[in-house]
Amino acid sequence: MNVPVITIDGPTASGKGTVAVRVGEALGFHVLDSGAMYRLVALSAIRSGVAHDDEAALAALAESLPARFVGDRILLGAVDATDLIRQEAVGNLASKVAVFPAVRDALLARQRAFRTAPGLVADGRDMGTVVFPDAPLKVFLTASVESRAWRRHKQLIDKGFPANIDDLRKDLAERDARDTQRRNAPLRPAEDALHLDSSDMPVADVVGAILGRWTQIQ
Ligand code: C5P
Repeated sequence: MNVPVITIDGPTASGKGTVAVRVGEALGFHVLDSGAMYRLVALSAIRSGVAHDDEAALAALAESLPARFVGDRILLGAVDATDLIRQEAVGNLASKVAVFPAVRDALLARQRAFRTAPGLVADGRDMGTVVFPDAPLKVFLTASVESRAWRRHKQLIDKGFPANIDDLRKDLAERDARDTQRRNAPLRPAEDALHLDSSDMPVADVVGAILGRWTQIQ
């Protein structure tokens, strides 16, 4: 039997990451934050001076990315990139490099390699549609731009980064447009996805809804 996967896709700052970690903890499953991979490519591009429209060079970076996920830390070579990749500039660049098919292809096998026993919770944009289309449970997690902007604001302030709510609203709207309108693996719900809106739903309720559905389909 295939190792089970629960996919959680949705727009930026919808709460996917937190929910994925909690569902993973509850089930004892591994967790894949696929957005972190695109952010690592973006960070590498900034550090090595690769232009955001140089598809071949970006794909080469993605192919040879010295990334390691160690507990809750994300390493890029010898650098602890866990917090660095959360900066808005890196997230924005990540959504630009993510439009390139060669970059996505370079990361595909790495993402699938996370599927190991006893199971995986994978969050991103195309986990249910492209990377793990056979996942037995697919979730599409959304939230209003307003609640996502304030959520991202809090995350940045908590990490000691500057944050401006008007800029964040604008950034989120731009990033949503790029993620949903790109030709390759756009953000969209899988046909069989469970839709949840976390705008007014506490994290615990979102996690409860996913675990409830998981129990039902076992
Ligand atoms: O989820 P997160 O905001 O960290 O992702 C950063 C960017 O990486 C997204 O805006 C999106 O463009 C890209 N991404 C993607 N496919 C994924 C995960 C993230 O295109 N599976």
